[in-house]
Amino acid sequence: MKKILDALTQVVGQAFVDSGYEASYGKVTISNRPDLCEFQCNGAMAGAKAYRKAPIMIANAVVEKLQEQNAQTPVWEEISAVMPGFINLKLHPDFLAGMLTEMNEDEKLGCQCEAEPKTMVIDYGGPNVAKPLHIGHLRSAIIGESIKRICRYMGNQVIGDVHLGDWGLQMGLIMQELKERQPELPYFDPAFEGEYPVEAPFTIGELEEIYPAASGKSKVDEEFSRQAHDTTFLFQQGDRGLVALWKHIINVSVNDLKENYRKLNVDFDVWYGESDAQPFIPAMVEKMKADGFARESQGALIVDVAEETDTKEVPPCILVKSDGATLYSTTDLAPIVQRVQEYDPASMIYLTDKRQEMHFTQVFRCARKTGLVNEDVNLTHIGFGTMNGKDGKPFKTRSGGVMRLEYLISEIQDAVYNRIMDNENRSMEEEEAKAVSAVIGLAALKYGDLSNQASKDYIFDIERFASFEGNTGPYILYTIVRIKSILAKCAQALEGGHMCADESIEIADVIRPASSDSEKQLQLCLAQFNEMMDVAYRELAPHKICQYIYELSNAFNQFYHNNKILTEPDEEKKAGFIRLITLTKKVLETGIDLLGFEAPEKM
Ligand code: ARG
Repeated sequence: MKKILDALTQVVGQAFVDSGYEASYGKVTISNRPDLCEFQCNGAMAGAKAYRKAPIMIANAVVEKLQEQNAQTPVWEEISAVMPGFINLKLHPDFLAGMLTEMNEDEKLGCQCEAEPKTMVIDYGGPNVAKPLHIGHLRSAIIGESIKRICRYMGNQVIGDVHLGDWGLQMGLIMQELKERQPELPYFDPAFEGEYPVEAPFTIGELEEIYPAASGKSKVDEEFSRQAHDTTFLFQQGDRGLVALWKHIINVSVNDLKENYRKLNVDFDVWYGESDAQPFIPAMVEKMKADGFARESQGALIVDVAEETDTKEVPPCILVKSDGATLYSTTDLAPIVQRVQEYDPASMIYLTDKRQEMHFTQVFRCARKTGLVNEDVNLTHIGFGTMNGKDGKPFKTRSGGVMRLEYLISEIQDAVYNRIMDNENRSMEEEEAKAVSAVIGLAALKYGDLSNQASKDYIFDIERFASFEGNTGPYILYTIVRIKSILAKCAQALEGGHMCADESIEIADVIRPASSDSEKQLQLCLAQFNEMMDVAYRELAPHKICQYIYELSNAFNQFYHNNKILTEPDEEKKAGFIRLITLTKKVLETGIDLLGFEAPEKM
């Protein structure tokens, strides 16, 4: 389905042509004077120079043609030329209703999806095995999940890859610490030849305590640190016992991570880890050498990636350190090889803290230069900002420690719970209030994050995010719940209380022309959904969806206050209202689904 501005531009462009001017001057935009008109065209001003005419003359001629067209097929309710040459436009309610009817019948609500699906890999989440999730991981998961859903909605084949941190020194530290605590375990016995136990020798709780202990110890105990390095090396060389132990660590940790992500409504298609890319490294490095891209420098193997036009220094990409160890950049290059082989994607999108920007600049340049990807493959890094506390500093717990995900989530859910329980008219028992708070809390958290442009730092303000009013997740949910409740009441009235699924309500099958200002505003807002989605998709910008559903919620609530829906005596009009709010609900629900949360039945 056409986007509304494109459809209107075509109409006005034709009027320019019919008046003897070029169609390109007919560009229609949303009015920046909503008090005067809904849409405007400033093309007469631009055309004045080219045609050496007063803009108002051009505008008058075009308006005349528009009026002639309008007599045939009504598009406009009002058309006027205003000094010095603006064309002010108001849409005809019939035309608007026609567009919305088309949108309503379309499964994708009028969005222009990709005709040929593209394969895309989204690398997000990036948790580390056996280490607690922190805020950076939270942002990556929340934003990445939404981008994945947006790209998928627009018709692509999207693979979400968690890119698990399961390689390197952190693993050696854990193993070394375990060895000190339980030296009798068979994993540490080089002479052991039997089957290793099926059960892991630790719980997730123990595992979570082991890493910080080991990491702390390595900073003060040189001997321990050296041994952890050796253990890491042995394990990476494929030591049978250590690999078996490593598998236990992965299993226990991944099960826990999956549970965490499930609570966040985040879902990965593949659980590849850094370790899965290791087998691709030797051949990749050899080829880079053979092709003359990799060179030795102070014992390390590097690829130069600086470009003449750089305004700041871009250091070479290091593949292998002088001690033979590979680095973070190598573990990001190898998965590119793997992904090209496995999926041949048109694009790869990475979500990390924006402080990793230089790393990805180096990796992407290296991948292109050495031919790991073809020129037409799109490599994108979305670097997000820091989540700060009210003091403007990176968010901490009350006791000053780094904020862990579980605490953060429970804090926001508690804030919502208290708000629900404080309400004297509450219709919920404690139990239900708890369940509902979990749903609303997640929305508060995700919306609070996603409503900011990703690259910006933002202030995490639980009170504000959990508020049921203003530009918040709970406000959007509240609006959806309100619509659900109206629809349920309608259904009850119709069915004598037997049914309340909105499908059972008698609703018009077309959107009726708006009969009031607030109804028209709601319709105008709905008609912009496909336009907004196009921008959110092209810019990979979930905040555009937040902005839109906030405006749509406002438009709906205004309509709700100005019109009586349930008590409307004109049955046909009422049926039209119900169709309109059903569409509104569908658009809002689509919006929150793309952001990665859902609405409760009541709140
Ligand atoms: N595991 C890393 C960390 O915790 C993040 C990984 C980000 N993704 C990537 N492809 N480098 O910092």
